Amino acid sequence: MTAVVYGSSTGNTEEVAGKTAAALGNADVLAVSDCDADKLKGYDRLILGTSTWGIGDLQDDWDEKLEILSQLDYSGKTVALFGLGDQEGYSDSFVDAMAPLKKEILAAGGTLKGKWPVEGYEFSSSASVEDDSFIGLALDEDNQSNLTDERIKLWVSSL
Ligand SMILES: Cc1cc2nc3c(=O)[nH]c(=O)nc-3n(C[C@H](O)[C@H](O)[C@H](O)COP(=O)(O)O)c2cc1C
Repeated sequence: MTAVVYGSSTGNTEEVAGKTAAALGNADVLAVSDCDADKLKGYDRLILGTSTWGIGDLQDDWDEKLEILSQLDYSGKTVALFGLGDQEGYSDSFVDAMAPLKKEILAAGGTLKGKWPVEGYEFSSSASVEDDSFIGLALDEDNQSNLTDERIKLWVSSL
């Protein structure tokens, strides 16, 4: 069973979480603010979504609940990230907030699926780029919302 877990301040990541769950089929959509480790432990696939706030900061609900990710047992679990950001307004910290999620998951023995190419975006810097790829799906509802549905479809098929 799959859970799409999101943290969202103005609703964009929440909306994308719903679209991602629909593309995956048979997935629960959960606000991270309503989650604890116990609730997530029964899922064998976790898709985690966050927006970026401040200058490269994790979304507030994730910030409060980040310790959940270090409390999970990742054996037999597939995990992938998606991040929302604004590549024009925040070109130096585009979708940075995926990076702290990755750090927690790796520290707890998990691994990530769902790298995504940087082609098709214009930004200067991102903490969520490693080896010329995003560590998860990058989405930009501020500037490229017309590409979101197609990106989700492609990404989901790669998981
Ligand atoms: C005050 C403010 C700070 C932001 N900081 C960043 C940032 O550092 N990096 C980034 O990629 N996007 C940044 N954004 C853009 C948001 O991440 C983007 O609008 C996102 O879609 C919001 O999703 P949410 O409604 O789910 O929280 C910022 C937006 C605002 C209003």
